[in-house]
Amino acid sequence: MQLEDSLGDIIGKARRGLGLDIQSLAAQAGISAQDIGKIESYELTPPDEALERLAAALSLKYTALARIAAGTYAPQTEALERWGCIRRIESRYGDMSVNAYLVWDDTSLHAALFDTGTDFGAIQCAVEELGLNLRFVGLTHTHGDHTAVLEQVRSAFSPVVLCSPAEPVPGGQAVREGDVVEMESLSIEILETAGHSPGGLTFHVTGFRNAPGAAATGDALFAGSIGGARVSYERLLANVREKILMLPEDTLLLPGHGPLTTVGQERENNPFAA
Ligand SMILES: [Fe+2]
Repeated sequence: MQLEDSLGDIIGKARRGLGLDIQSLAAQAGISAQDIGKIESYELTPPDEALERLAAALSLKYTALARIAAGTYAPQTEALERWGCIRRIESRYGDMSVNAYLVWDDTSLHAALFDTGTDFGAIQCAVEELGLNLRFVGLTHTHGDHTAVLEQVRSAFSPVVLCSPAEPVPGGQAVREGDVVEMESLSIEILETAGHSPGGLTFHVTGFRNAPGAAATGDALFAGSIGGARVSYERLLANVREKILMLPEDTLLLPGHGPLTTVGQERENNPFAA
């Protein structure tokens, strides 16, 4: 599966995040403004030296950026069969693809759905096929692509909806940093990872029988990138670096868009890692 963001997206996100216009970045990195425009519109991959200057000007990790520019970063994760109780449900939102995840306790079959995506039929099929009792919906944030079929999920399964107090939904249960929701053998710990949205949450699930923990990050972190910092680049970077990337290195990361990855791989290969 292709990475969610390419070099142009990453440069643009970092530049806008730092509040730099193209001319200022051009001056700082010693690259023409025209070339920066071309990089951001995917028309140019700069030579190594220029890329290194760009990484320095944007405080991005150069080695990771170079790998993405060369198209050689493809996160490897063990098959979800190792967990045996996580399923990714991919759906379409316009020309984008969005991920929702079902995670369940394999004895009681109590389940949580992290975000809904846009395909209620796929969720309903999975819940019925697996015989799950959908107890919780955890919302990483409330952007439309992640919550498109929330009302249908609620009327079909009556789950408790866990959300941030900064992005409330009617009838939802507000959760905060450090809260832990127990679901039989699984524990769902809440990390506040705002910055892409005002109340972004990451749900860190532990207690799998033979597998490390897993964390649904929403649009805080993608494999090889981060979400757009619509609210605060500084807060988003701090949350990614100090919370998500501080989880144990074998933690499986379940991003809102693009492929699965792990904490260890993102520490090395994500240009936004410290
Ligand atoms: Fe989003």
